[in-house]
Amino acid sequence: MKPIDADALLARLGRWSAGRGPLHLLLARRLRELVEAGELPPGARLPPERDLARRLAIGRSTLVAAYELLRREGLLTRRQGSGTWVAGTAEDGMTARVGGTSHPMFLGFLEPPDGVLQMACAAPDAPPPALLDAYRAALDRMGSITGDLGYHPGGHPALRDALARSYADRGIPTAPDEILVTTGAQQALALLVRHWVSPGDAVLVEGPTYPGMLEPLREAAADPVWAARDRDGLDVEAWCRTLVERRPAFAYLVPTFHNPTGTVIPSLVRRRLVETAVAHDVPIVDDEVLSGLSFVGDPPPGLAAFGPAGRIVSVGSLSKIVWGGLRIGWIRADRDLIARLARLKATQDLGGDVPAQLAAAELVPNIPALSRHRARLLRARHDHLCARLATDLPDWRFRPVEGGQTLWIRLPHGDGGSFAQTAMRHGVAVLPGSSLHPAGADADCVRISFLADVGVLNEAVDRLVRAWNAYPAQPRTNTVPSGIAV
Ligand SMILES: Cc1ncc(COP(=O)(O)O)c(C=O)c1O
Repeated sequence: MKPIDADALLARLGRWSAGRGPLHLLLARRLRELVEAGELPPGARLPPERDLARRLAIGRSTLVAAYELLRREGLLTRRQGSGTWVAGTAEDGMTARVGGTSHPMFLGFLEPPDGVLQMACAAPDAPPPALLDAYRAALDRMGSITGDLGYHPGGHPALRDALARSYADRGIPTAPDEILVTTGAQQALALLVRHWVSPGDAVLVEGPTYPGMLEPLREAAADPVWAARDRDGLDVEAWCRTLVERRPAFAYLVPTFHNPTGTVIPSLVRRRLVETAVAHDVPIVDDEVLSGLSFVGDPPPGLAAFGPAGRIVSVGSLSKIVWGGLRIGWIRADRDLIARLARLKATQDLGGDVPAQLAAAELVPNIPALSRHRARLLRARHDHLCARLATDLPDWRFRPVEGGQTLWIRLPHGDGGSFAQTAMRHGVAVLPGSSLHPAGADADCVRISFLADVGVLNEAVDRLVRAWNAYPAQPRTNTVPSGIAV
């Protein structure tokens, strides 16, 4: 049997090193859990020792000690020269048992809190007072509901109406039936993939991009093609050329405070991207989730301002300016597409939570003020983190950003994957660059968020410094060119 893919195993190991005690015991404990849960089935062959040890940023002897322990417990079989297996007879191999995501960002949400400082995930860490007030108002409203079963697959009318008005206020005329309310922007992205993509279809993304789009594409067996980014942002020529040559099912962009790099596509370029896509009949998805987080005044208008609703689909959310726990996102598109997406959503959940939608309807008129408040806070944290990194980790390369929540850091040596393992052992989670790229490029990068308050940021940088000092100079593992690749 082929060895289990090292990346898949790494993802399953998750935060294996976050506890106390010698590394080989921590690793053995996590492997034991995987074997006992059936995630590593009998007969599954483990990746070559040297490769796995390097990716875990541990010595080979530590890995061997963990394996030996499990061999003595009867869980593993080892044979000199030919590798290590899960004891028992081969059944259906690892992948047959393992469903769902194995992406470190998603798995991070599934891990129990364990004292590791979160610089890998990016969202406010407490509901703001405005949300509590909005819920109070929503509860009052609920007291007078009659004749409403509460199932609204397209979204509660009050929230669709409020969102339509907020687009109109920004100069983008929108009717309530051109809005679909979703369970966070994540469901919006997943619904769009489900609607447009058949196995093998090309989808044009940026490299790197938000992993929450890459995972639904992977599940749908799409063929993600990408336009690389240069120092200033998207490589526009490459994007247009790829779109024309590959005619993707759709193109996905995060033009405003791009996740992970934080760059903004200027208005003139937005116009060109939209015109190219419309001319070739390719829909564009504008992920506007971070667009409210500007440190320096208003960013350029969303792509919807530059083209017809039929081809430009906007995705938004209250997660970053209010709270992720609210789980309110939306899609703005033409009414035919919205009606089809609402039918898809109906089969998943019959519609979202009504109290949350009524609270959101209270908040939406205040989006500009909520955004300004959140952005002010983030700017102070961003400036603090940049100053600390410049002083304490001077050979890390990054550009300060003008909005958003994350910094994109290029490491001077080694790779983001094995450094993330080292950082985890020092109590801080960062996201490896390769996990944000459709082909695993940008392996020399990590994404870190600046959401925490200054005290936590200071502690996180102290831990990163200790991790970096403990991190040996390593050759790069990534061979994917980071130039323009399709
Ligand atoms: C660019 C981008 N799109 C979508 C999402 C998902 O947002 P939500 O929490 O609303 O599902 C995120 C969350 O980090 C994001 O950064």
